[in-house]
Amino acid sequence: MAKQFKGKVAVVTGAASGIGRGAALIFAREGAKVIVTTDSNIKGGEETVNMIKAAGGEAAFVKCDVTKEKDAENMVAQAVAKYGSLDFAFNNAGIGPDGKRVPLVNIVDTPAELWLKTIDINLNGVFWCTKHEMKQMMKQKSGGSIVITSSIGANHAVPGFSAYDASKSGIFGLARCAALEGAKYGIRVNTVCPGPIQNTLLTEYLLATNPAMKTGMSTKIPMGRLGEPEDIAGAVMYFCSDSSKFVTGQILCVDGGMTTT
Ligand code: NAI
Repeated sequence: MAKQFKGKVAVVTGAASGIGRGAALIFAREGAKVIVTTDSNIKGGEETVNMIKAAGGEAAFVKCDVTKEKDAENMVAQAVAKYGSLDFAFNNAGIGPDGKRVPLVNIVDTPAELWLKTIDINLNGVFWCTKHEMKQMMKQKSGGSIVITSSIGANHAVPGFSAYDASKSGIFGLARCAALEGAKYGIRVNTVCPGPIQNTLLTEYLLATNPAMKTGMSTKIPMGRLGEPEDIAGAVMYFCSDSSKFVTGQILCVDGGMTTT
């Protein structure tokens, strides 16, 4: 069967593990050439590339700290230099309150650096990437699809998650403006909001530091299980495929029904 993304080029940020890795693998399985990026987990990024190559796909690693505009610009330039164009971008890199790398902390106890770091990676980082991806796609004049990872936390506040929830809600406004500005160029911009997803470092650390959360989480999910990175990748592939060619500026929760309750 023909691969739907044959000849296309995708960049995926935060592809060293979890959701980004899951999406990078499926982009490649569908025929796209993939630029796998991450900031510090170089080993994880290279592993993702090797997994793609072992499955017969094409991929290259580019180091990109999304908080640095120059890195975002370089990520796009590398995609074009190596594979000739940029068709899809999955702006997914992010940090969350996982209890290990990022503490769960109430507003009154939140140190300035934690607030600023969270906004810098989760919101500013998405902005820099979107800016340079749109510039390239506008130059190419052949459209494109950008998908951004927000979170169900953007709609449903949890105590201790203030910086995270604020950063993920900010994405909604950014993505809507990008969708409007990109529309006449055929550039579509949509947002995916994952519920709790296992096999990601974020959830692994969260459950390790708060084991009781696992039962709590799955009982709150009508479908009775945590999600998998592939569940999110499915939504990303939809937003990049022709099945969604008239869809832009939309927000899709992929959460087993959690936010419908
Ligand atoms: P993860 O921790 O496994 O992956 C995060 C990725 O982002 C890693 O590759 C990491 O190296 C990268 N990253 C972190 N800071 C970066 C920076 N400054 N520049 C470039 N890359 C950076 O966790 P997961 O879950 O796969 O996270 C992916 C996205 O999904 C995040 O935006 C997260 O907020 C979001 N999310 C995750 C949920 C979950 O249950 N795991 C639920 C809702 C949203």
